[in-house]
Amino acid sequence: MSGPRARGNILKRLREAAPGFVSGESLGTELGISRPAVWKHVSRLRSDGYQIEAVPRRGYRLVSSPDLLVPQEIQSRLRTSVIGAKIRHFDVVGSTNEVARDLALKGAPEGTIVIAEKQSAGRGRLGRPWVSPAGGIYFSVVLHPALPPTELVRVTLCTAVSVARAIRETAEVAVAIKWPNDILCRGRKLVGILTEMVAEADSVGFAVVGIGINANTAVTDYPAPSRLSLTTLASVLGRATDRTDLLVAVLEALDRDYARLKQGRFAEILDEWKQMCSTIGTNVRVSTVEGTFEGIATGVNADGSLVVTASSGEKRAFRSGEVEHLRSA
Ligand code: BTN
Repeated sequence: MSGPRARGNILKRLREAAPGFVSGESLGTELGISRPAVWKHVSRLRSDGYQIEAVPRRGYRLVSSPDLLVPQEIQSRLRTSVIGAKIRHFDVVGSTNEVARDLALKGAPEGTIVIAEKQSAGRGRLGRPWVSPAGGIYFSVVLHPALPPTELVRVTLCTAVSVARAIRETAEVAVAIKWPNDILCRGRKLVGILTEMVAEADSVGFAVVGIGINANTAVTDYPAPSRLSLTTLASVLGRATDRTDLLVAVLEALDRDYARLKQGRFAEILDEWKQMCSTIGTNVRVSTVEGTFEGIATGVNADGSLVVTASSGEKRAFRSGEVEHLRSA
């Protein structure tokens, strides 16, 4: 058994038993390793920030876990079939999307995820930066969706549904989706999703879906101009969220929804997306390189494009662009 897997199993047993003890002997027997080897893994876990008490004749007890998105911890809780096949974790990277792309080009399997505690060059949609201070959740997933590039938007919509549902269920806050893939809480942005692809002739070679969640950060951690339009879970809830719980919930939701997408059940996902979307029925201004267009967002087509109907009756469908919610129609 590899070191990370052994440590993941030890943590799982300690967590199940907490606040009680687990003897070194039973850990050794369950894992098929010697007691000194158990001790070595426990020492390594301690240096990773776990507080583990050791008492002669009683064994080990988990006192606290570090506030880090530790792969072995995530792996030991995760019940997924594809997402999380491999987990890489960094303290800081430029962009997890960039790292995931490099890994995918080197053959990383579908479901590989790259997590960072901070990003120094986080990327947002439309070439914008994504400010990524410690306390947020920043990760990217490698997917092989077998779709033509024009249908890649399906992966993004699917991810938005998964993330929104996981946040509703885990953090118990009301969230809505703003077209195409922002997740809002109380009208302000809480989550951003950026899907990038490496395409072959007529299909997506692989896609990298990057997700940034403003979790345990403060609004003042972000540059002044963006503070009015964003929010964080900590500021909404008035307390910190267990980031590992939330990440595991998001990954499990994505695993289920992505499986449905692969089974050709996109229509179902689009219906759920529409139910969660606060853009439809709202007066919007859409800005694209060609200019701006105002009207009521009247629907979303099967390809994910947003239909906007102007007061003149003119209708346009947008596949990309920046949408501003003006006021409810
Ligand atoms: C947006 O502009 O709304 C999309 C933001 C996406 C941010 C995430 S954070 C993890 C991943 N790595 C990046 O550089 N960007 C995405």
